[in-house]
Amino acid sequence: MKLFDVYPLFDITPIKGEDVYIYDDKNTRYLDLYGGHAVISIGHSHPKYVNAISDQVAKLGFYSNSIQNSLQKQLAILLGNISGCSSYELFLCNSGAEANENALKLASFHTGKKKVIAFKNGFHGRTSAAVAATDNSRIIAPINAQQEVTFFELGDLVSVENELRKNETCAVIIEVIQGVGGLDEATTEFFQSLEKLCKKHQTLLIADEIQCGIGRTGDFFAFQKHQIRPDIISIAKGMGNGFPIGGIMIHPNIKSSHGLLGTTFGGNHLACVAAISVLKVLEEENLMNNVKKTSAYFRDKAKTIPAIKTIKGRGLMLGLEFDFPIANLRKILISKHHIFTGSSKNPNLLRILPSLTVKKEHLDVFFDALKQEI
Ligand SMILES: Cc1ncc(COP(=O)(O)O)c(C=O)c1O
Repeated sequence: MKLFDVYPLFDITPIKGEDVYIYDDKNTRYLDLYGGHAVISIGHSHPKYVNAISDQVAKLGFYSNSIQNSLQKQLAILLGNISGCSSYELFLCNSGAEANENALKLASFHTGKKKVIAFKNGFHGRTSAAVAATDNSRIIAPINAQQEVTFFELGDLVSVENELRKNETCAVIIEVIQGVGGLDEATTEFFQSLEKLCKKHQTLLIADEIQCGIGRTGDFFAFQKHQIRPDIISIAKGMGNGFPIGGIMIHPNIKSSHGLLGTTFGGNHLACVAAISVLKVLEEENLMNNVKKTSAYFRDKAKTIPAIKTIKGRGLMLGLEFDFPIANLRKILISKHHIFTGSSKNPNLLRILPSLTVKKEHLDVFFDALKQEI
């Protein structure tokens, strides 16, 4: 059987990872400034992570959500404490799309309404309601188009309020920093007004922190810079450092009931120990502090390169905007310099999403390569 051909692939076969490096089948070492698309948070194959998962699989890899699972409770407590959101409640699932799918469904259950507001250039995943709330008509199939989603420009509060006034909207969903869309972020004023408007019109505010959360910006959550308290926070990617896990953190005003949400694999034993070890390493190694330091260093270096027109993003969710398309540059960085970087919807934007363990010397290697090529 052949694979269903949906991914354009680089001709590289990684077989090993170690911190910020991956190694291919010919033992060529690559500097990973892409983090497998913002997934690698504590570094590839971190020893504590490897041990935690190995020990757990030797004991019990999986059992269903019909039994007690103390690892889920341990994860919820740790996540609550480290994020400063300990009053929220946690529902666990397996991916980012699934997190947003559950967030939107819960908003609809809670409010009794069914329309959604989302933003231009936003990306929320590829499942039913999540893809409908994604601003990319090419990935919305007719079966998804039945969802009633209205898209507005980031910052357009007037249109948002006009729509909310109709009292049909269950949720406003927003990436606090847009990932795939190209690293745009609304202002603090916008986020705070949005929060107020949502409250006024009994609509839930969903902060999609799937890419920008779990320490990537130097704060645990990107929304914390704006001093808001979303009703639902969706998380995935860096949460498991590559182990598939996602979740939603739910404000205590939203009440649970048996059967309201559910999943077979969500919150399984292996996923929980993976996420627990990520959070422990994040704290023990003071990685959010490292994010702030290396991010500032990156910006300072980027500022010295005239071909870079704009430096976008926060922490280690960064983008360099050039006045030419970066597709070829990205290929050269991989093939000649063995450095992985990312792209986005904006053809001129090179994305940098390394492990939160990345050091200044790794960034030096990147900037030296960049200077040679532009
Ligand atoms: C902001 C955001 N939300 C949702 C998703 C979907 O996550 P997943 O691919 O795990 O379904 C992504 C994935 O790139 C994302 O960046």
